[in-house]
Amino acid sequence: MKKTEFLEETIEHIDIKKFNIVPMVDAMNNMAFQARNLARGAKIFDMMQKDTDCVIYLTLAGSLISAGLKMVIVDMIKNNMVDVIVSTGANIVDQDFFEALGFRHYHGTPFVNDSDLRELMIDRIYDTFIDEGELRICDETIGQIANNLPPKPYSSREFIIEMGKFLEENDKYAVYRENSIVYQCYKKGVPVFVPAFSDCSAGFGLVHHQWHNPDKQVSIDSARDFLEITKIKINNTTSGIFMIGGGVPKNFVQDIVVAAEVLDYDVPMHKYAVQITVADERDGALSGSTLKEASSWGKVDTTYEQMVYSEATIAMPLIVGYSYHKGNYKARMERRLNEVLSEVAVEK
Ligand SMILES: NC(=O)c1ccc[n+]([C@@H]2O[C@H](COP(=O)([O-])OP(=O)(O)OC[C@H]3O[C@@H](n4cnc5c(N)ncnc54)[C@H](O)[C@@H]3O)[C@@H](O)[C@H]2O)c1
Repeated sequence: MKKTEFLEETIEHIDIKKFNIVPMVDAMNNMAFQARNLARGAKIFDMMQKDTDCVIYLTLAGSLISAGLKMVIVDMIKNNMVDVIVSTGANIVDQDFFEALGFRHYHGTPFVNDSDLRELMIDRIYDTFIDEGELRICDETIGQIANNLPPKPYSSREFIIEMGKFLEENDKYAVYRENSIVYQCYKKGVPVFVPAFSDCSAGFGLVHHQWHNPDKQVSIDSARDFLEITKIKINNTTSGIFMIGGGVPKNFVQDIVVAAEVLDYDVPMHKYAVQITVADERDGALSGSTLKEASSWGKVDTTYEQMVYSEATIAMPLIVGYSYHKGNYKARMERRLNEVLSEVAVEK
């Protein structure tokens, strides 16, 4: 098969606005197992929306954008249903920024000879294909953005703002950028943190930048990320977290309660917490650790918490769609925390 035959049918992002699934999720509340857990998770997520004091943190792990969940997240951003995003680099750079440059993900299959794919420079994520040549353009673009910045340490949040600015300033991306997380967050002032920023396409771009600019380097300061996101918690004490998958983003947001304490601020634990995950708790690792367990570390309150054991492409549109069609987000304000972070120092 030729490369073009492998890369024919594009992944399309699900549009939760089109389907009112409120009655279905309400009915799932009368079922058992993960259906009931999902319905309770949706109700807690909706409680976060109703609580206008609550700063909502969304954490993203896994391959969510390549799988068709981008528009769910973009609709959350546009409707003030999320105030802060913490993600892996794969979601934000390799997948979202990649699509903002005009590239797409394609329907594939796990039942394929991967050596054939390698010869054609096609990368595979389970049943999804990517043109590696296009991914390399994404890497290079990150390197170019770094080359054009004043050399100094940046938080990942600050660098991602520059990625949004790059999309804004280049009209050739105008048709693609509207449905980009990076671009919408840039426009709405929503902070995006990627604590392991180099562990993705961005890493290749930054390695290239640093190699060729030994005396004037842009670097990413993850401690600065942690301080910035902790300032958000200190200034906005009521918080809720909606976690998609586990990994670094889950722990990063949970830990800001402890970081505030380290700085002598007595902040409450996260009031609301919902996690969608396929991991369970038996290996003792972070991704499957329950939110009840997190309460033993002083991170999450146990009154409004729910684990939903499901693959995210199924559960996320249901939980966000439920809350979207309930409409309680409409009373929420646009917080523009990016602007607040650059202007306000924390009062001692
Ligand atoms: N995923 C990719 O294609 C990819 C590509 C390039 C770089 N990376 C990098 O690798 C690191 C880890 O990436 P990761 O987040 O993909 O893997 P991960 O294995 O760290 O994900 C964390 C956990 O989240 C849960 N999870 C993941 N996907 C889920 C889903 N669809 N539904 C429910 N639960 C889910 C699982 O329990 C998993 O153990 C990151 O730094 C990322 O930037 C990933």
